[in-house]
Amino acid sequence: MSTSTQPVLRGVKACVFDAYGTLFDVSSVAHGAQDALGERWHALSDLWRTKQLQYSWLRSLTDQHADFWQITGDALDFALATLHIQDKALRERLLHMYLAIKPFAEVAETLTQLKQAGEKLAILSNGTPVMLQAAVKNAGLEGIFDAVLSVEDVGVFKPHPLVYQLATDRLGIRREEICFLSSNGWDAYSAKAYGFQVVWCNRFNQPPEHLPSPPDAQIRTLDDLPALIARSA
Ligand code: LAC
Repeated sequence: MSTSTQPVLRGVKACVFDAYGTLFDVSSVAHGAQDALGERWHALSDLWRTKQLQYSWLRSLTDQHADFWQITGDALDFALATLHIQDKALRERLLHMYLAIKPFAEVAETLTQLKQAGEKLAILSNGTPVMLQAAVKNAGLEGIFDAVLSVEDVGVFKPHPLVYQLATDRLGIRREEICFLSSNGWDAYSAKAYGFQVVWCNRFNQPPEHLPSPPDAQIRTLDDLPALIARSA
């Protein structure tokens, strides 16, 4: 896996981004309720996210799909119960703050730079269409994406190959012409297994996953993405 900032990706026709954790800062949601949670926002945020992902995998494996809004609420209930917080109004406030999740600082500038360089841009996420449109709007990113793709169109969560196939089908390009970006290691490795060119935006400096199909490159923030894409494809 390359950590260089030299072009290592060739023939890229579209950049497809994971949403939560990659474009949007999941921790910004609980942080926004620090007035009510105090320092417990850290624990709530970690528990909430961990459980949200576990529920997505479990529901896919057991063929009991529910959309990401439902799963996000269920995971929040688990996290609140773990921390012995019983506050219905706070629960509703937190859940609805997911619709106004904050983008990471460099997102708008990097996307603009890629778009100006002629790349197609898309989101491919577990989020529902409503959740994704709200996040995009709140972040001021309307109009920048050629497609905002939700797993709801295939009824199963990442990392099922049908999800990654949604991007090739909808964008009408071959899998190796897609540069997929995720900060979630498991998502990056699974997308590479599907056949995308993959960059792991390893925001939290995590060690490599012990999974097959390592991504092509690793960067710390999206700032380093444009330099990885060879222009003379
Ligand atoms: C998503 C989750 C994996 O946006 O963060 O698909």
